[in-house]
Amino acid sequence: MRVLLVAPPGAGKGTQGALIATHFDIPHIATGDLLREHVAQRSTLGNAVQEHLNRGELVPDEIVLDMVRTELIDAKEHRGGGYVLDGVPRNMTQARALYQVGLDLDMTANVALHLKADDDELTRRLLARAALEHRSDDTEEVIRRRLALYHEVTHPIVDWYGSRGILVSVDAMRPVQHVARQILTALETMSTLVDFVPESARRSIDLTGLGAAFGDA
Ligand code: AP5
Ligand code: MG
Repeated sequence: MRVLLVAPPGAGKGTQGALIATHFDIPHIATGDLLREHVAQRSTLGNAVQEHLNRGELVPDEIVLDMVRTELIDAKEHRGGGYVLDGVPRNMTQARALYQVGLDLDMTANVALHLKADDDELTRRLLARAALEHRSDDTEEVIRRRLALYHEVTHPIVDWYGSRGILVSVDAMRPVQHVARQILTALETMSTLVDFVPESARRSIDLTGLGAAFGDA
């Protein structure tokens, strides 16, 4: 299974990405986590991107794309070629470049999973996390910037995945386990088929109205 997550800050990319990765035994490649590791290690790359992360700005595309290409090659050579990408692509340039990397490696995404949630809920979650984890970008001001940037440059790529017929949209406002059940049910159903459906026959799926079918009261 090859899945990429397109979702705003706090929607659950890390939470659901980890569950998907465990369920399908595939690597969870999270660009934010990789960048924060570099910052913590004070590597040259970490020093170069630290201020971008602190301000909630995107780091330059080439840095992220190089990092992701390396991780995808590793996933192909050592982990069977599946993956969950969390945090990339973040804009149209990255989306197109990532598609090209996928074509080169014969591992383009089967599913672009869009987690939908509103800004008030996202802000609440990130402020709650701030009290526990102390991420440098979980302050009110930087959360506002991250959300604005998501709406401005990241959300537009959702339509591009829609037009390619690989978009699966999920309501991420519900409790973690409900969201997970819906995602894993959909991916499990699709997993045996995705590699055999020609591009021209693919259709996007909107599961956002199906809360009750997945355990909501
Ligand atoms: P990144 O680490 O990707 O951060 P983000 O997009 O801001 O998202 P978060 O990690 O904050 O949220 P999440 O969606 O993972 O939600 P989570 O599961 O943690 O990027 C950080 C920075 O790195 C960027 O600002 C940029 O500088 C740089 N960067 C990264 N990728 C880049 C790229 N491609 N290009 C350029 N720059 C890049 O959940 C959040 C909280 O909510 C948790 O406490 C969780 O327990 C809780 N929660 C989750 N789901 C639910 C639920 N259903 N109900 C209630 N609570 C929930
Ligand atoms: Mg995350």
